[in-house]
Order: sequence, then C-alpha cells, then structure tokens
Amino acid sequence: MGTMTIDGRKVEFTDEKNVLSIIRKAGINIPTLCYHSELSTFGACRLCTVEDDRGRTFASCSEEPRDGMVIFTNTGKLRKYRKLIVELLLAAHCRDCTTCERSANCTLRELALRLGVKDVRFQNTRPEYPLDFSSPSIVRDPNKCILCGNCVRACRELQGIEALGFAYRGTDAIVMPAFGRDIVTTDCVNCGQCRVVCPTAAISIKSHEEQVWDALADPNVRVVAQIAPAVRVAVGKEFGLPNGRSQMGRIVNALHRMGFDEVYDTTISADLTIIEETNEFLDRVANGGKLPLLTSCCPAWVKFVEDQFPEYENNVSTCRSPQGMLSATIKEYFRDPEKAGDKKTIVVSFMPCTAKKMEITWDRNRTKDEPDTDFVLTSTELIRMIKTSGFDFATLEPEACDVPFGFGSGAGVIFGASGGVTEAVLRRLVPDHSQKTLASIANCGVRGDGFIREFTVPYNGIDVKVCVVSGLANARAVMEKVQNGEAEYHLIEGMACRRGCVMGGGQPVHAGDRTKEARTKGLYNADNTSIIKKSDENPMVDALYAGLLKGKEHELLHVHKKH
Ligand code: FES
Repeated sequence: MGTMTIDGRKVEFTDEKNVLSIIRKAGINIPTLCYHSELSTFGACRLCTVEDDRGRTFASCSEEPRDGMVIFTNTGKLRKYRKLIVELLLAAHCRDCTTCERSANCTLRELALRLGVKDVRFQNTRPEYPLDFSSPSIVRDPNKCILCGNCVRACRELQGIEALGFAYRGTDAIVMPAFGRDIVTTDCVNCGQCRVVCPTAAISIKSHEEQVWDALADPNVRVVAQIAPAVRVAVGKEFGLPNGRSQMGRIVNALHRMGFDEVYDTTISADLTIIEETNEFLDRVANGGKLPLLTSCCPAWVKFVEDQFPEYENNVSTCRSPQGMLSATIKEYFRDPEKAGDKKTIVVSFMPCTAKKMEITWDRNRTKDEPDTDFVLTSTELIRMIKTSGFDFATLEPEACDVPFGFGSGAGVIFGASGGVTEAVLRRLVPDHSQKTLASIANCGVRGDGFIREFTVPYNGIDVKVCVVSGLANARAVMEKVQNGEAEYHLIEGMACRRGCVMGGGQPVHAGDRTKEARTKGLYNADNTSIIKKSDENPMVDALYAGLLKGKEHELLHVHKKH
C-alpha cells in the first residue's frame, strides 16, 4: 500500500507487484516487449524504462513499488533511449513487414511507428537462419525473433514442456529447441501458446487457407465446414463487434458466401462426446475400469499424457474429440452415393486451436483409410478469410447452420471453456433440467478462475471426485500427485491452454484480461439462451443414434486402439 507520483500525478497502489502495473493503472500505456502478466519478469528489452526524480533510470517491470516514489515515464532521455532500442531491434530483424502475416498486429512494428523510428542507422550483422516448418501447427522464423524470451517462458512456465530455449550468447543468441533440432522432434504439444505471446511473427500459425480456397474453387469437391464453440466468441472483436459476443450466425453467413456447401456446428458432436464419455465413465466405475478417466477432447493434453505419463495412456477416454467425431460422421453421411452425388467431400474444421492441426495427422483419426478432417483452420485464419473476401462482417445477416449436423445443446457450447466438458457430463448425470438443478451444477466448483479446481459430487451412492485443470504445467502438478498417490480422482478434465479453448493457440492475439473474461462469458451467455441445455435432450443427436450412427458408434465416435 502506498502512493507514488507518476508524471506529476499522485497514484495510489495496493498489491501491484511492479512499478509497470501502477503506471498502467494510471492509464499510461508504456511500451513493453518482454513483459507478460502471466509470465515471470525477464527484464530484457528495457523498453519499459522510467526515470526517477534523481535522474536514475530503471526497468519498471522489474522494480518493486515503494511508497513516495517519484517517476517520469516520458522524458527526452527516455524517448531517445526507447527509440534507440527499437532501432537496434529493427536492425537485427528481417524487415519484410509488408508481406509479414503479423503486419497488422506486430508489437515491434507498432512500437516503431509509435516512437517515431523513421530510419535504421545500423547494419544487420546477424546471419540468416533457416525457417522451421517441421511442425504440423506452427512455423518458426528465427529471423523475426527479438529474443524477448516470451515463448521460452510460456513453454516452460505455463506448459511445463521446455521445447524452446536460448542458445549461445551475446550477438549470437538465438531461441531454438535443444541442439538446434526441428521442433517436431521435441516434446512440443502444438498448443501454440508460444505463438500467442510472441510479439512478432517469429512463431506463427502454419496456414492452410490456400488449400481451402483451392477446394472451394473446385467444382468436383463438396466443401463442408464445422465450427467449434470457442471460435464464435473470438471473431467479432476483430470487426468492431462486442468483445466475446457469439457471432455464430454471421460466421455461418460468411462461410456460405465463400462457397462452403454445408456449414455445421461442432457443438452437436460435443453432445455426442458427452453421451459417449459419460457412458464410458459409468462403465469404468461399475466394472472396475481404469480410473481416473482422462478426457480426450484436447489433443495437446492427450499428447502430453502419452509423452510424459505413458502409464496413464489407457486412462485417456477412447472417445474421439468433438472435431474427430463430427468429421467421421460427416464423411460417413456423404459415403451414401445418393448424398455424395459425383462430388468428393472435404471437411474443414474451424478451431480455436493449433493442436487440432496435429490431431488430424494422427492415424487414429482416419476412417476407412481416409482422413476424417481434411484441413483445420484456426479462428485467426477464419478472420483473414473473411477479410480476404471483403465482407463487411458486422453487417452480415446471421444465418443458421445446415441440417443434419447444425444444432448443439448449451452443454455442447460450454465445451470451449475450462470446466465445460465436466459441467456437461454432470448435466447428463442428473435426470432433470430445472433451473435450480442446472444452477446447483454450475455452482458445485466446476466454474471459476482457478486453473486447478477440485470438487466432489454425489452420484448413485458414491462421491465422484473431479479435477478440472487447464495449463499443462498445472496438469503436470495434478498428474504427479495422482502418480504419487497423493490425490485420487474419478475424472480429470484436462485442457492444455489456461482457461480452455477460448484461449487456444489459434485465437487472435493481444487478448488482455477483459477479452479472456469476455470470451468465457460469451460461451455461458450462448448456453443461457439455448433452448436445449442437456446433450442427451438434443433431438438431432437422438436422430443420429437412431439412424446414421446405429451400429457404427464405436467405429465413428471412438479411437481404435487398445485401452
Ligand atoms: Fe520491462 Fe521488457 S518490458 S524490460
């Protein structure tokens, strides 16, 4: 607690951990490159440097606040210093800004403009590094790296993976996987959180837009889209629409206009997932199967368990992810020659997640020797496709998805938030759908801000112990406790990204606290306004089980490996 003077104004502070936070609280957007509120302080870029009343300069992100401090954030000395830092960074940076995919939201480019850097007086002495295209999800371009270390810390601190690190020193310093290996050969889970915190395009999404445009232009191809829950709450802000509000109807309209033949909603297969996963859970509880049951919706979490805790591989649910279930079902639907006509069917899924690009390369997501999903495009790629099309997105009339896979329940929509899968399972386990029952489920501990949430719910005479965890570093802590016998659960819902899919690695970057909250709230609002709240009450799901899926549930909805 105390007061400091910032640029001549008194500002009170309470528990802010550094001077930078208080400067921001005072409404001053001081430049930063290496500071990230969810990561440890690195103090490398020095852009946040401020000056005190004795002329001493220091990095505000690394300085603890003290009562009575007097600081200045915008003196002539500071402006010169910041400009010089940016100029030096630009000198060592590949400057193909006009064609760079982060051109519109590159923090370095924005700072150069903001600080009035008009030329670069220094020679680039860095060698040109090869790009790493080895990952199915991301591309690494060391020539655009400014050594802020955000990706290194995100991978280590948020995800506990350490696929990236610093190598060499001084002007030779570079970020890369250990021993200069390709990223695909590391324990990288493809979550894309390194890309989310990267201020430039040193790490970017591996794009598949061109392949999808080609398919849309091919008269012999039926292009079918599916849209995941978390995508609909991340797109609107980019077009000036309210932050976090679901724009599903406008997205459907945009995809129809682009030429997608059918547009479906992944929430219907989230409903299928709930039914299948609940059945599997109850079967394991009744028959002494492997527990805890580990959810299987998030491919980065599944890969993490398989790589890091292989003895728990068989605890992972055999259910395909909602993406996998819907794509397999769509492909099966169009195998009927009457429906197929003379066209080949291509399934494109729009996901908030870079790891979904990895998931579709797994053999377990193939049926009858063909891939279930042909291409995964992230929310970021969807936004670019809408912009490429030239649509005035905000004025598009909302449209409904197509039948028979165009409608999901509220339980399916909340899958996009951490805890959503579990909440949907709990809804399935209760016989009624009264407001009171649904409210008591929502308040049982399944929702909340904590990244590890543990609670117990009574069911059929047993206390079902549940853990909802997001962020793989947190997941590691949970799994180690299970491994050591310090914790016992019946069910663990794991999501690789903190807060769940709403903060997936394919979502638009620069999401501050307000955006994070708005995206989650947007999903709960969509659930509030949905007519059907429980997965098992979705009539389209009933129709699928009675028709297309009859006798093929295991083949199309589960992965086929021994469990
Ligand atoms: Fe403070 Fe980089 S933001 S040193």
